[in-house]
Amino acid sequence: MKAADHPDLSGHVALVTGASSGLGRRAALVLAEAGAKVVALARRADALKSLEDEAAGSVVAMPADLIDRGGLADLARRAAEPFGAPDIVVHAAGINTREVADEVTPEGWDVTINLNLGVPFFLTQALVPAMKAKGWGRIVNFASLQSHRAFPGGVSYGASKGGVAQLTRAMAEAWSKDGICANAIGPGFFRTELTAAVFDDPERAARNAAQTCIGRNGEVEDMDGPLLFLCSDACAYVTGQVLMVDGGFTAK
Ligand SMILES: NC(=O)c1ccc[n+]([C@@H]2O[C@H](COP(=O)([O-])OP(=O)(O)OC[C@H]3O[C@@H](n4cnc5c(N)ncnc54)[C@H](OP(=O)(O)O)[C@@H]3O)[C@@H](O)[C@H]2O)c1
Repeated sequence: MKAADHPDLSGHVALVTGASSGLGRRAALVLAEAGAKVVALARRADALKSLEDEAAGSVVAMPADLIDRGGLADLARRAAEPFGAPDIVVHAAGINTREVADEVTPEGWDVTINLNLGVPFFLTQALVPAMKAKGWGRIVNFASLQSHRAFPGGVSYGASKGGVAQLTRAMAEAWSKDGICANAIGPGFFRTELTAAVFDDPERAARNAAQTCIGRNGEVEDMDGPLLFLCSDACAYVTGQVLMVDGGFTAK
């Protein structure tokens, strides 16, 4: 997207989780380019520092581990320190253990459901009071093809992402009357650390590309327009939706 096509997000503060790599890193940069101030959260401080340097003044790194449920309210409070309370939250932190059904462990299940589904809810719950006070908020969750489809090794991950689709509707039901729109992006296949196993197998990557209507896998820039839309005034009457950004994978 050209900068001129961006909605103007100046005056807004975004908290982006999973900002050290992949789609979260891209989201932080694009929101900053559109004028938002961005708090970038992930565990790897070095990767966040390079993002901070690239965005020159618009992004502040917040190294933190989201896995501790009890610490989320404190993280929400700390996220308000650099620029004021976030009125946009993008939940890009996620993991996929790829444990096959017969070998799913309680540990793998718990960490997946907690990080992919529990964190977006409880972190948002801690951010919502400030959004309500402002009468404006935007929540963007990350769903998946696996919100709708089953894939091998996708028991915990698919359950978490099916949950994200429903969580998005439930968030919309709870908070939209306060000016807070809750939506999700459902990516197709994008080359990131998360999908290294898929893209390291060229035949598998090509099969996935062929399954789309467009005929290719996603590039991180493909996420820019949908993300900015869901973080802007343009989506004021769009809430509770999962926007599939998948090149038409789920249309076929
Ligand atoms: N790529 C795709 O094709 C695709 C497809 C469908 C859905 N998605 C979804 O899109 C979102 C972004 O995925 P991605 O592909 O960009 O993955 P990624 O490159 O692997 O990024 C995942 C991010 O989550 C962070 N993270 C993991 N555990 C964390 C923890 N305990 N605390 C804080 N941060 C943590 C990682 O940072 P640290 O390691 O530094 O903590 C990293 O920044 C995920 O929800 C994923 O499920 C992606």
